[in-house]
Amino acid sequence: MDMLAPALKGVARELSKSISSGSTIGLGSGSTVAGLMDEIAPLLVAGSKQVNGVPTSTQIELVARRNGIRLVPFSGAVDLCVDGADQVDERMNLLKGGGGALLREKVVMGSAKSVAIVASAKKFVKRLCEKGVRVPVEVVPIARESSKARISLLGGVPEERLLPKGYPYFTENGNMILDTMFEPLDDPVAMESKLKAVPGVAEVGIFTFKPLTVYRLNDDGTFDVLKWRD
Ligand code: A5P
Repeated sequence: MDMLAPALKGVARELSKSISSGSTIGLGSGSTVAGLMDEIAPLLVAGSKQVNGVPTSTQIELVARRNGIRLVPFSGAVDLCVDGADQVDERMNLLKGGGGALLREKVVMGSAKSVAIVASAKKFVKRLCEKGVRVPVEVVPIARESSKARISLLGGVPEERLLPKGYPYFTENGNMILDTMFEPLDDPVAMESKLKAVPGVAEVGIFTFKPLTVYRLNDDGTFDVLKWRD
């Protein structure tokens, strides 16, 4: 993240200007949002802005607490959702869930009046799943084998996510993750709904919400703002 620190600072400055005091912000998970929180929290304090944060994981909850951001339970709507991504395609569809927080991230993002995604330039691709990046599919434990078989019929190669010592990884919702290899996706919207139709699938790491604004962090310290409004 070091090379990207100046760009992240710039995004934090820009986002902090658009955040009003009293607003509720959905906090996505991952290292990018964590870095952004560290930058944005002092700016909000300096601007005498008090916001309410809705965390999507314990990871980002800890970061928010450390930064003095007031946390509130999710009440069904947020003004702004700030999140990272594992990949962004040319139509601004996203792959998410590398940290396992995809289900809560999708619920919170789906309830947001506006969405800001922050991702380094190397994560931008023409089609999702290029470069061997896999789709995280969250499944209830009882459906581990049955869903694998169904996902294979959709052309995927699912593999249980494991912790470094080989124990299965469980999400904060008590589910498992099948990291699934696909050929680059021509139609991510269709694949998202096909995967979600598999019995036992709780959520899928393909995010196709619009509208959204994507902040692309460049190595030279600059950032680009990309808006998608259809
Ligand atoms: C968390 O489960 C993910 O959706 C993250 O938002 C995504 O993996 C990006 O993480 P980094 O910012 O750590 O790359």
